[in-house]
Amino acid sequence: MRDALGAVQSVLVLGGNSEIAIAITERLVDLRCRTVVLAVRDPLSPVTATAADALRARGATTVEAVGFDALASESHSGVIDETFARFGDFDLVISAFGVLGDQEMFNNDPAAAAIAASTNFVGAVSSSLAVATRLRAQGHGVLMVITSVAGVRARADNFVYGSTKAGLDAFAQGLGDSLVGSGARVVVVRPGFVHTRMTEGMKPAPFAATSDKIADAVIAGFGKGREIIWAPPILALVFGLLRHLPRSLWRKVSAR
Ligand SMILES: NC(=O)c1ccc[n+]([C@@H]2O[C@H](COP(=O)([O-])OP(=O)(O)OC[C@H]3O[C@@H](n4cnc5c(N)ncnc54)[C@H](OP(=O)(O)O)[C@@H]3O)[C@@H](O)[C@H]2O)c1
Repeated sequence: MRDALGAVQSVLVLGGNSEIAIAITERLVDLRCRTVVLAVRDPLSPVTATAADALRARGATTVEAVGFDALASESHSGVIDETFARFGDFDLVISAFGVLGDQEMFNNDPAAAAIAASTNFVGAVSSSLAVATRLRAQGHGVLMVITSVAGVRARADNFVYGSTKAGLDAFAQGLGDSLVGSGARVVVVRPGFVHTRMTEGMKPAPFAATSDKIADAVIAGFGKGREIIWAPPILALVFGLLRHLPRSLWRKVSAR
């Protein structure tokens, strides 16, 4: 349960090695979160160990890694149930896993595109529904789903990724609406271009930011009780305009 001042005390991160999610979690620990569970493909990976050490150094008292594969939808209810049974209630679950891929490669390898879609959308559907069941049962808690501005309007050069995020964003909003009255909530986070492992070597898009800046925006929006958090916040305005451009114009401005 959140503490008397409303601070999150426990967080479960699905895709626990995500640089964006780790930056958010570090700030939550600074704000008195004490239990962090990182759900990752390989709980023994050095990336997870480094993230766990950094969280402990900031003040987290329980930091554990559990096995989680977004592509193994049939395992999600079991993994989520076991994790809640082992660690108790979670105030916040962050769904952060995802793959970007390469549109050119997807064009030549439809099966690879399907794996990306299964990771970003199908895996998020099964794991989020399993989390929602637990949050409903505990009567409190937030599921934070990281989508992307890429889902607001698909671009020719990354429409597989963009469409998975569009689907995920719609799913998360619908799930949030279905939870009204249960005590549980869903928060959608829509980052723009973020400098992380995912975008390494790519030309930054306008309003590109570090994961630290994105995490600051997420914590600020979360503190204000926002249901949708644009990160950085200026993107709400930018995409409010871009989503209404005529297709022919959108094709030109979105070409990179
Ligand atoms: N970076 C950006 O510009 C940007 C912009 C908008 C939205 N986003 C979204 O933000 C989220 C976090 O991205 P990030 O930038 O922090 O990238 P990241 O550091 O590469 O994190 C993505 C994480 O997803 C995990 N993952 C991939 N496939 C998985 C699977 N099958 N099962 C479990 N975990 C899996 C990876 O785990 P491993 O460590 O095992 O590889 C990785 O830790 C993603 O959903 C991404 O789409 C990113």
